[in-house]
Amino acid sequence: MSLDLNLDKILIIDFGSQFTQLIARRVRELGVFSELISHKKVKSFQIKPNIKGIILSGGPLNVYQLNNDLFDKKILKLGIPILGICFGHQILSKFNGGKVKQSKHREFGLANIHKKDNSQLIKNFFNKKIKKVWMSHSDQVTKLPKTFRAIASSENSKFAIVESKTSKFFGVQFHPEVTHTENGKKIISNFIFLICKMRPNWSSKDQKIKLIKEIKNLVGNNKVICALSGGVDSSVVAQLLNKAIGKKLFCIFVNTGLLRKNEETQVVKTFRKKLKINLIYVNAEKEFLKKLKDISDPEKKRKIIGNLFIKIFERYSKKIKNVKFLAQGTLYPDLIESKSVTGSQTSKIKSHHNVGGLPKKMKLKLVEPLKFLFKDEVRKLGLELNLSKEIISRHPFPGPGLAIRMPGIITFEKIKILKEADYYFIQALKDHGLYHKIWQAYAALLPVKTVGVMGDNRTYEYLCLLRAITSEDGMTADFFEFKKSFSQMISNKIVNNIRGINRVVYDITSKPPSTIELE
Ligand code: XMP
Repeated sequence: MSLDLNLDKILIIDFGSQFTQLIARRVRELGVFSELISHKKVKSFQIKPNIKGIILSGGPLNVYQLNNDLFDKKILKLGIPILGICFGHQILSKFNGGKVKQSKHREFGLANIHKKDNSQLIKNFFNKKIKKVWMSHSDQVTKLPKTFRAIASSENSKFAIVESKTSKFFGVQFHPEVTHTENGKKIISNFIFLICKMRPNWSSKDQKIKLIKEIKNLVGNNKVICALSGGVDSSVVAQLLNKAIGKKLFCIFVNTGLLRKNEETQVVKTFRKKLKINLIYVNAEKEFLKKLKDISDPEKKRKIIGNLFIKIFERYSKKIKNVKFLAQGTLYPDLIESKSVTGSQTSKIKSHHNVGGLPKKMKLKLVEPLKFLFKDEVRKLGLELNLSKEIISRHPFPGPGLAIRMPGIITFEKIKILKEADYYFIQALKDHGLYHKIWQAYAALLPVKTVGVMGDNRTYEYLCLLRAITSEDGMTADFFEFKKSFSQMISNKIVNNIRGINRVVYDITSKPPSTIELE
């Protein structure tokens, strides 16, 4: 038994386009639940009555490669409205008797399309006769099925928008889901509301009500434990469960000693005092420091911290008797099978540690209430659950904490210095209205000492590195450009106020080739 929202939805069949997640998000932004499934996994018999419309995504395949293992064509015979985007548009045409060929002119980037006919799909889309759209294809439909008609064309694509005269099938050669397509969301909205006749069912409020109900059904009278890190995901999970099952929830918060300044006090204050959640606070600073003594290899550090975290979590969870469930903050992108559609396997760069990877051997059933949500939806849900903006819009913080912002060996003295430097930096970002313009920022302490002069005295102290990046999802990143006045102010503040640092440098590398964290 697992959480099942059982909502009316738009099913997006993913053929491996880089934009598929965007389609799912656009549908949800319009207030309708959507789910993604790989083209290889979906079979016609799995299509349930709550699927009110299907979107076929773009992708790198060729329609002539599509055999029954790659796509169950019976899906096209179920009488459900279908919108094909790019490759999906070619599928619709091909399997309804049209022709698709490699075109002489590949179309990448912006193109103008001209309206030729009316259709529900383009209601209020063309506010002028020509519209700029984003194309990305080399194959194209060269002959329309007899039962289809053209609604719009571009110079290179005669059939840029098409519609079936006999079924609710619609195809667009361009990508309405990307922002470069002017008014593209209107196409998706017309498909959902006018053609599939859906009603909005996916606001933060809907999610809250539905998820609380589902959690109650799933958990019943049993106890649930949850590892709380104070980050956005685990905080939202905890508060959601708190609303659903109250005192049957037990949160365990482990202070590794590698947290940001005052973090443990804030977490205890917010979750125990304000939100009245059962919170077990474990101060394991000494244990972590002892295990990390003399370790400088980044991977060893990560492994030690991850394993010890799990050991401590298990130790404390055993103290709560008769626990049946473990709550985790798994998000939708973690689950989307389409990640493997493109087949790319990245080599392991770092062993990630987070509270989501808790022990399988604990034999607890999982509650993963966020597994239907994208990150921005989690944030909105958190606000709906009355979590403060401060928690909801916090920069990400890695599981291994300050350990990976301190290359070389870890000592109590270094942690203390680093906590202070990080605090000054983050506080300055907040004071100057920069915190929310930056995706993630932190201070690091490098294992080198350099010479400086303060007053008339020579100093020989650590080097502090500041990093601030902009990013969409942490996969790629660029460094943030500060004004000289800010850089000057923060470097002065850190050097003047923190004993142990006499030099500040700013990291100006992007990701790739660097990563966001130092280790
Ligand atoms: P990197 O350094 O790989 O970081 O460019 C990308 C994002 O992931 C965060 N990060 C982690 N988060 N456990 C986490 O929960 C980890 O072990 C971990 N390592 C890195 C990092 O802070 C950045 O946001």
